[in-house]
Amino acid sequence: MTTPPQILSSRVRGVRLYEMPCIVDPERGHLTVGEAPGALPFVPRRYFITFGIPSGQKRGQHAHKCCMQFLICTHGQCRLRVDDGVQQEDICLDRPTLGVLVPPLVWATEDRHSADAALLVLASQPYEPGDYIRDYAEFLTMTRRTRTCV
Ligand code: TYD
Repeated sequence: MTTPPQILSSRVRGVRLYEMPCIVDPERGHLTVGEAPGALPFVPRRYFITFGIPSGQKRGQHAHKCCMQFLICTHGQCRLRVDDGVQQEDICLDRPTLGVLVPPLVWATEDRHSADAALLVLASQPYEPGDYIRDYAEFLTMTRRTRTCV
C-alpha cells in the first residue's frame, strides 16, 4: 500500500495537480504509482503517448465535452497550458511523479517539448472525435453557457 497523492488546486476551473507517491530505491531505481479507483481521479479507458515532438510544435489545442484526461510527462519535459475561458495557467511537466487532471471544458495546449519528452495521457473515455471542441470561439461560447447555467 502506498501513500495517497498530494493534490493541489489550480486557478483554472477543475484542474488539479497530483504529486503521486514515489518509492525511492537508490539501488534498483525508483517507482511511482497510482491506482484507480482511489488515487487517480477516474478509471482510465484509454491511453495515448505523444513523443518525438519537434521543437516549436504544439499539441492539443482543444477541449473535450465529456472526456477527462490525466497527463504525466514520463520522460523529459514540456509545458501544459490550461484555460477555462477566464483563467489560464502554465504548468511545467518535468517529472514522472506529477499528474495533471484536465476536466471537460478546459482548453489544453502542450508545447516546449524537450527532444526526449514522452507525454502519457490517461483518458476517461474511448476515442470519440465528436467529443472534441477544436474551435476556440465555440469553446468560449460553451464555457459562457455553462457558467450562466450554474
Ligand atoms: P490529435 O488529436 O491531433 O492529437 P493531439 O491532441 O496530441 O494534438 O490526434 C492525432 C491523430 O491521432 C488523429 O488522427 C486522431 C488520432 N487519435 C486516435 O486515433 N486515438 C486517440 O486516442 C487519439 C488521442 C488520437
